[in-house]
Amino acid sequence: MSTVVLAYSGGLDTSVAIRWIQEKYGLDVIALTIDVGSERDIAAIADKARQIGAVKALIVDARADFVRYFVWPALQAGAIYEGYYPLATALARPLIARLLVEVAHAEGAVAVAHGCTGKGNDQVRFDVSIATLAPDLKIIAPVREWSMTRDNEIVYAAEHGIPVQATNASPYSVDQNLWGRSTECGILEDPWAEPPEDAFIWTASLAAAQLEPTYREISFQHGIPIALNGVEMDGVTLIETLNKEAGRYGVGRIDAIENRLVGIKSREVYEAPAATVLHTAHRALESLTLSREQTRFKEGVSSEYARLIYNGQWYSALHQDLAAYVQSTQRFVSGKVRIRLSSGQCSVVGRTSEHSLYSHGLATYDSGDQFDHNAALGFIKLWGLPLSTQAQAQLLPSVGMEGNLLAKVATKE
Ligand code: ARG
Repeated sequence: MSTVVLAYSGGLDTSVAIRWIQEKYGLDVIALTIDVGSERDIAAIADKARQIGAVKALIVDARADFVRYFVWPALQAGAIYEGYYPLATALARPLIARLLVEVAHAEGAVAVAHGCTGKGNDQVRFDVSIATLAPDLKIIAPVREWSMTRDNEIVYAAEHGIPVQATNASPYSVDQNLWGRSTECGILEDPWAEPPEDAFIWTASLAAAQLEPTYREISFQHGIPIALNGVEMDGVTLIETLNKEAGRYGVGRIDAIENRLVGIKSREVYEAPAATVLHTAHRALESLTLSREQTRFKEGVSSEYARLIYNGQWYSALHQDLAAYVQSTQRFVSGKVRIRLSSGQCSVVGRTSEHSLYSHGLATYDSGDQFDHNAALGFIKLWGLPLSTQAQAQLLPSVGMEGNLLAKVATKE
């Protein structure tokens, strides 16, 4: 019989999918469970897949590759979607797609399958990545294809002897990995409703986070974090440590309305303590080591980069181009940043680099000033020259202010 490789999470959707694919498509299912830092019992999930009827259940610990090839490049790029989302889910999708394709080819499968709905971004990210990497593979998306409600699925599961965790009564839809945790659905679908505390797992409430402030030193090499408080550690450990430590301070809660690629606005609650701390620290180090013009240009690159990750274009030529630019910008982004964690806050309190562009002699208002004050005069004259020339030739009105401000003040007396 032909086979399909299913990205298997162990949840209700993909559990039902194992049997549904067998019935609907007559394919043997190989379940592939990928650990990207979801804090689940991966071995137990694989057992469950076999029990439900998968012919094989494979597990891959992809945490180190996730950090190295996806998280760190996104951090170096400063990729944050629409100003708040560090892209945890979006970054894991192209990795999972790649592993699905590799396993499908190794196993001689004719198709791959995933558990995405027809309303989200994830189906786009999976389908576009898979079609780009392996146009030969058919893509099956059971949840998009069947028209079962959650209750229908529970009935289907009962009829087919599929174990369902009755304790899994969470009203939310959650996706999580090392880089962050995303929570949707339930009361959160009301954008006016404050997220209840039970929507947060990684971060302490502000009430609980009333701890003595604490400091962390993060060392970077070429824009990649390599040590915490002077202790070198691998990326997975560093991120896990910061998720716990900053999470205790309630750092990294994000509540936002987000524009999905498929045209819907959705309410998203994220917890991303490590991503929040590391983006903050990385930006601080760049402020010391990149020129004004590099910083300005990179802002545009960052938002393009974030958008392409969000929109499922990881395996694109545009990404290759932007990645090359970003790598070039990181040549001198090495040094240390000191962060202060306090209730809900992550503040930069110090930064240092051997490649720093900061010159005390130029900046100081004290003795030792090396800045040429007289040169400022000539500079200002030329800088303002086109403005004053144009204002005289075209009698430009003052921008955004009609009439005479002084006259308005006078009439009030
Ligand atoms: N809105 C985020 C994104 O599109 C998170 C999606 C979470 N996915 C999920 N299956 N719950 O990347």
